[in-house]
Amino acid sequence: MLTKIITEGTTKVEVPVPDENSNFPPSSVQVFYNPAMRTNRDMAVAAIACFSKDNPDYTYLDALCASGIRGLRIAGEVGLNTTMSDWEEASYELIKRNIELNGLSNCTAMKRNANVVMLDGSFDIIDLDPFGTPAPFLDAACFSTKRLLCITATDTAPLCGAHKKAGIRNYSAVPLKTEYYPEMGVRILMGAAARTLAKYDKAMTPLLSYASAHYVRLFAKVKKGIREADESLKDVGFLSHCFNCGERKWTFGLAVHMEENCPLCGHKTSLAGPLWLGRLHDREFCVGVLDEVKKREYKVAEKLITLCRDELDIPMFYDCHKLCKLQRLTAMSTNELILALREKDFQASRTHFSGISFKTNAGIEEIKKVVEEVAGRYR
Ligand SMILES: C[S@@+](CC[C@H](N)C(=O)[O-])C[C@H]1O[C@@H](n2cnc3c(N)ncnc32)[C@H](O)[C@@H]1O
Ligand SMILES: [Zn+2]
Repeated sequence: MLTKIITEGTTKVEVPVPDENSNFPPSSVQVFYNPAMRTNRDMAVAAIACFSKDNPDYTYLDALCASGIRGLRIAGEVGLNTTMSDWEEASYELIKRNIELNGLSNCTAMKRNANVVMLDGSFDIIDLDPFGTPAPFLDAACFSTKRLLCITATDTAPLCGAHKKAGIRNYSAVPLKTEYYPEMGVRILMGAAARTLAKYDKAMTPLLSYASAHYVRLFAKVKKGIREADESLKDVGFLSHCFNCGERKWTFGLAVHMEENCPLCGHKTSLAGPLWLGRLHDREFCVGVLDEVKKREYKVAEKLITLCRDELDIPMFYDCHKLCKLQRLTAMSTNELILALREKDFQASRTHFSGISFKTNAGIEEIKKVVEEVAGRYR
């Protein structure tokens, strides 16, 4: 395997050099490495540094570590005791060399099935970064984590409803393909995580959850306790969507009654769930992560965490262009629409999910009136 040494953050990593003739993902390469996931790893460093600020003795598991780049950065740049594991021999050899390259004494390398590692012991913080869906690892991770569960899921099509059957199989939930599909993906994953943690009498409190172009990411605080687990399940529920007029409604609970027809236009509604309907982020945590991100000069992550910190925590976001199209109007400025909603005493904010979208507590009919009014200013 041809390799080179790169630097990410302040960590040096020996990574494979992909064959120029092969397509991505590089099939000829024995160990996976994706430079495009740098912001994902930057955010992990900042979030985990923030989470473990007063507890430098927390243990961290990079359960599917490939070159070890993620775990190496946590060990070197945050300072936590880190276990890095991958079942591939080539990965295991590379992880050991990378630990040596960085002179780290707080790392353990393992060549094991991730599920075995997690069922065999417990870790304060577990990070899952699989190929595609984290579903095959979710049970063991929820069993093993003591304080924080971090998940990356790159199976955005099943999560967001584009591949509905795969979504149902992997997450025991029905996703729906709507204009707010990235938020659907985040909430389907969060719902599955909360329900799996509850099996082990653990409660989930989301600290930071976001979607980017190719993946969904979750940092969730975990607390052991039957009462807490029951409480956390109260944030799981169902969503109904009307594809005719855009009305959405949600109901908390796992055995719920929802109207079959849209209360606004009478059209048959479509259902999604069970999914997470509670908060996506903890604002105080976002402020802490922002501090870490600034200190470390992660420019892309800074923009993302700022948007997460400032967005309203109301399901689901509205797409400004989609609304205009629905009303046969030309597209307008999202900022202007947000200001117009606020002038009417509604809450409204931008969202990290998309640059042309917003969140609000206004209902669809009220939003449409405001859209009409703003459009009138252009005439
Ligand atoms: C997407 S890569 C990890 C990338 C890495 N975390 C990074 O940031 O570059 C997924 C890794 O999981 C490993 N893997 C897949 N299934 C596994 C299993 N059941 N147990 C252990 N490792 C596994 C693969 O060998 C691969 O290296
Ligand atoms: Zn309707």
